[in-house]
Amino acid sequence: MTDDLDVDQLVRPEEVHSRVYTDPSIFQKEMELVFGRTWIFIGHESEVPNPGDFKTDRIGRWPILMTRDAGGKVHVFYNICRHRGATLCHESDGNGRSFKCMYHGWSFASDGALIGVPLAERMRGFDQAQYGLVALARVESYKGFVFASLCAEGMPLEVYLASVLPYLDEMVERAPNRRIAAVKPLKYEFDGNWKLQIENFSENYHPSVLHQSVFAHRARHTGKPTTTMKDSATGSREMALAFGHAVVDFRGTRRGKPYPGEDEYLQALSRRDDPKRAAELRDLDLHILIYPNLLLHTRFNHYRVVKPVAVDRTEIDVYPCRLGGAPDSLNEQLVHDSADHVSPVGLVQVDDLQAFDWVQDGLASGALGWMPLKLHGGDEHVNADGHLEWIGASEGVIRNQYQEWARLMSAGQPVAAH
Ligand code: FES
Ligand SMILES: [Fe+2]
Repeated sequence: MTDDLDVDQLVRPEEVHSRVYTDPSIFQKEMELVFGRTWIFIGHESEVPNPGDFKTDRIGRWPILMTRDAGGKVHVFYNICRHRGATLCHESDGNGRSFKCMYHGWSFASDGALIGVPLAERMRGFDQAQYGLVALARVESYKGFVFASLCAEGMPLEVYLASVLPYLDEMVERAPNRRIAAVKPLKYEFDGNWKLQIENFSENYHPSVLHQSVFAHRARHTGKPTTTMKDSATGSREMALAFGHAVVDFRGTRRGKPYPGEDEYLQALSRRDDPKRAAELRDLDLHILIYPNLLLHTRFNHYRVVKPVAVDRTEIDVYPCRLGGAPDSLNEQLVHDSADHVSPVGLVQVDDLQAFDWVQDGLASGALGWMPLKLHGGDEHVNADGHLEWIGASEGVIRNQYQEWARLMSAGQPVAAH
């Protein structure tokens, strides 16, 4: 932290100080100590399915270039020319044999090698092999999910993700051929701090109030009663996992109408697994939070990447995913439902974005100081895996995030497994 900041002045076990959402110097420290040190999600390998495919992105203050090289290997580089530091590729995605910098014309292959230098023969003491693109310090992937760390030191990805992997596995298992494929993202931004979105995703306190209009709309269509606070208090099984991760299991509580192609999908799963397991996977309904920037929604089968831009500005990219081996009609409905749910013109996320705007506006006044995070779910207990678990609406997932935030923001401590 900067000299005049102290984590204990910002986070207590059941309280958080409003400065964590509004202070630009805290935001800078978050980029350095949270996004700059831990594992961050970059993309899914299916975003670059073919040799030569690439996507560009920005994680915190870092421009990123993810590529698949001619041999099929996925790389994550800084999207920065090795000559004078110009950002290199200005397309959001595409396919090509090389990247040519617009400034002086240096060219790089998709494996990062520097392959073209105008007037190379007149460079002195110049070893071209030394000037390939700079890769992020560590890049690892798990079942197609690519993570990177800017920090060369630290725990392996599988240790960092260990507590959340069973749930990520289930999301992948929903695809009959065990492969999911991201489609082009829906992109939007809001005038609020990045933490507002990751807090909101696994906080089941707000939906029956904030999303009242959408629940009433659905109730009219289905003839079923609308969702109430009582439903929220009893309807989900929630778990705080290691390193700020979390899972909220809504299974059986909010199933809508059957999907087109659902019978065929169930048969495909049943050919692979026993019918009970197939039905379980069909009905899987998890919110999975992988701290600090990845939110996965298994029912509509999308993932959201949360991208901090400034202390009061955040971008969100939503990638609907197709289930490999499932009928097209079902996949099209999943993509449609993701757009309906979390696009800027959808029914649900617009409410949340409005709430983020209100919160940021209110906190910017500086009037509040410490704010409570005191809501607990029912039957809160440590489960057999050693994780805190409870039933229904709670701020436990947020408290868990701040525990990890405080750990990372207390610079210098070892990043050890627990
Ligand atoms: S900055 Fe890229 S070629 Fe000079
Ligand atoms: Fe919401």
